Amino acid sequence: MGYVIALAGKGGTGKTTLAALIVRALKEKKAGSILAIDADPNSNLGEVLGVKSSENVGAILDEIAQGPDKIPAGMAKERFIQLKVQEAITEEDGFDLLSMGKPEGPGCYCYVNNVLRGLMAKLIADYDYIVVDNEAGLEHLSRRTSRRADALVVVSDASSVGLKSAQRISELVKALKFEVKKSFLLINRFNKDIQKDLVKNTGLEYLGNLPFDPGMEELSLSGKPVFDLKPDAPLFAALNQLGDKIWKHH
Ligand SMILES: Nc1ncnc2c1ncn2[C@@H]1O[C@H](COP(=O)(O)OP(=O)(O)OP(=O)(O)O)[C@@H](O)[C@H]1O
Ligand SMILES: [Mg+2]
Repeated sequence: MGYVIALAGKGGTGKTTLAALIVRALKEKKAGSILAIDADPNSNLGEVLGVKSSENVGAILDEIAQGPDKIPAGMAKERFIQLKVQEAITEEDGFDLLSMGKPEGPGCYCYVNNVLRGLMAKLIADYDYIVVDNEAGLEHLSRRTSRRADALVVVSDASSVGLKSAQRISELVKALKFEVKKSFLLINRFNKDIQKDLVKNTGLEYLGNLPFDPGMEELSLSGKPVFDLKPDAPLFAALNQLGDKIWKHH
């Protein structure tokens, strides 16, 4: 059964960067098979992971919703969607990537979304680790990917506004009845521990904080993947230390 690590948090907090670094950490630990899922329609997880190009599931859904004639005669729609999703998975060295994209068309996607959810559940079971990068704002949290996470990591800055936003995410996850085993608060770009009473309100377990890393900033400015970050870079070293709490339960 795949161990699902989902990243959430308000815009620009570092979800995609940390999702990519978690993939790198798991790969280097040789923890098992890894599927990275980009669930942000403005997808850039692939870029941060150094993946050249990939088809996304949204484009596939458009094709199916708009042109039933695309499905070969005699093939069940569900089987067709399954083949297309398989095709959209990019196999990289040490991990696979699947970008969810976003359907653009006006058609009705209820049926395909339902089929997709079922497929995703099966797909997820085939990997040891699944790392999901979600879009900021939670109304779409994994609607088409997974309603379950073994570890939900809410990324925030250390500001009071940031922590309130983390609290809202935590409340929404409960209200939506997502099946989340553990939810963590991870403070990014901050070098000190934050006050415990600020954390308490979020209803999340405080995982720790990660420093601002000039090396990461440099990579990001030049569009380079996280694999180019030095192994002893402060951000990666700190994540590796905290990481055990994120993935140890597996
Ligand atoms: N600890 C850090 N040190 C230095 N730079 C960082 C750090 N964390 C993130 N960044 C940089 O901050 C920027 C925003 O990070 P990222 O894209 O991961 O955030 P996000 O939460 O995924 O944003 P969005 O909500 O737009 O998807 C990127 O340029 C990234 O390289
Ligand atoms: Mg992002």
